[in-house]
Amino acid sequence: MILVTGGAGYIGSHVCMALLEAGLDVVVIDNLSNSNQASLQRVQSLCGRSLIFRQIDIRDEEAVYDIIHDFGVTAVIHLAGLKAVGDSNVRPLSYYENNVVGTMRLVSAMTKANVKTLVFSSSATVYGVPTYLPLDERHPLGPTNPYGRTKFFIEETLKDLYRSDAEWRIGILRYFNPAGAHESGLIGEDPVGVPNNLLPFVAQVAIGRQEKLRIWGNDYNTPDGTGIRDFIHVVDLASGHLSVLNGLKQPGVITLNLGTGNGSSVLEVVRTFEAVSGRSVAYEIGGRRAGDVAICYADPTLAGDTLGWQSARSLAQMCADHWRWQLKNPNGYRES
Ligand code: UD1
Repeated sequence: MILVTGGAGYIGSHVCMALLEAGLDVVVIDNLSNSNQASLQRVQSLCGRSLIFRQIDIRDEEAVYDIIHDFGVTAVIHLAGLKAVGDSNVRPLSYYENNVVGTMRLVSAMTKANVKTLVFSSSATVYGVPTYLPLDERHPLGPTNPYGRTKFFIEETLKDLYRSDAEWRIGILRYFNPAGAHESGLIGEDPVGVPNNLLPFVAQVAIGRQEKLRIWGNDYNTPDGTGIRDFIHVVDLASGHLSVLNGLKQPGVITLNLGTGNGSSVLEVVRTFEAVSGRSVAYEIGGRRAGDVAICYADPTLAGDTLGWQSARSLAQMCADHWRWQLKNPNGYRES
């Protein structure tokens, strides 16, 4: 039985789908602070298998222990956490409390239950401003905001945990920019309020929920002047979790980038989205967004060598799948 924390969220629902499809049993805990349980109903009807859901916060150590103990959990995929960079500057303590303290309680419950296999959802944001590209796992770390620092502190804590107890098997996954949706169009990203991230914003312009995209700067040192990111299809990202779970055969800590290795500019994303959706995406050029870097993309070689994992889906497919989800669910899960 695999415990997925934050399993009702955007990445979590796709991870649950991958686990169930692989024949694994799943129990999800989620406090539903930024997710909707409808995602899990859809996951179950899509794959024709059921999972167990409990509305529990990872900070509730006793409740987490009971779940691990009662359901015979053997490994944990830990995705629960707050994730908005701007918000983390405004209320840093909530980020430290939910992400760092939450992870400490989760790991403590795991220790008590003698379950020592953990996959942790980290982020490429731990690298901060790139000093070279592509970013490999040896690149120096230097997160530039509280959200990124919570991921960094958790990574360091998990490494200390392994140093103190060599029975642990820990996979740290540094995601680049997750995008797209399951190809059924039934599960996808459902941001609350105005989206911060590019793909959901573009999709909402295409469907008419937002008037126009503001492109944060076209004066970067890139071919078209807009920022370049490594967008990775959420289904590829989800399959990476399964690969690392299978790959954690020996005790140790493995830290892996999950990215495609390809950079796409903001304008390329807009044009690709227009092409696959047949809609126009109105935009205007704004000033640079504080904290943004010009270019960020992964060297995903280590995940390939270690796990045999690599991304398979193109930017066009990410846009097409994101659009299908947006079209079928113009208001996300709220009308379901
Ligand atoms: C952001 C976070 C990162 C987090 C990731 C999760 C920041 C600085 N970084 O990454 O820590 O792990 O989301 O997916 O917030 N853009 C626009 N207009 C928009 C939105 C975005 O031009 O309305 C541009 C951005 O300037 C950037 C690119 O699109 O060049 C991607 O932005 P976004 O989707 O927010 O991701 P990141 O900033 O790369």
